[in-house]
Amino acid sequence: MADPNAALKTPTDLNRNDTRTVADALNGILADSFALYFKTKNFHWHVSGPHFRDYHLMLDDQAAQILATTDVIAERVRKTGNTTLRSVGDIARRQTIKDNDADFVSPADMLNELREDNLALVAALREAKEIVDEAKDNATSGILDEWTDQAEERAWFLFETSRKG
Ligand SMILES: [Fe+2]
Repeated sequence: MADPNAALKTPTDLNRNDTRTVADALNGILADSFALYFKTKNFHWHVSGPHFRDYHLMLDDQAAQILATTDVIAERVRKTGNTTLRSVGDIARRQTIKDNDADFVSPADMLNELREDNLALVAALREAKEIVDEAKDNATSGILDEWTDQAEERAWFLFETSRKG
């Protein structure tokens, strides 16, 4: 029987089973990146108080940085012959970073929550790195380092910004 997904099987020299494991890790990271992007925007829109301008602008920078990674993550999955997310529902099924739909969140809680979320993303990226290296997918491995560095930078900014005095 013909494989209905044959048209989406980009040729690759990497082991098919290995790339599926890599794709799974990357699709999880992609879902979390969209969840974190939206939460960062949510807080950008709803932050309040005397530091409004600083927080509002910082969160916008961070959201833009996260969003910029999403296309690259999805295309790494496609370049190695697998399929990626297709919908908001797909994101919701895979995300491990939790939404925050609270009516009001204090600025301090916003910064703390985002710092923890970014550190959780760093942990997921480090786990993915091991899987990717095992699969000898060196292009994904190299770019994972960049995403890790960016998430660590966001956690650093959120940590310093949230310190009192
Ligand atoms: Fe804005």
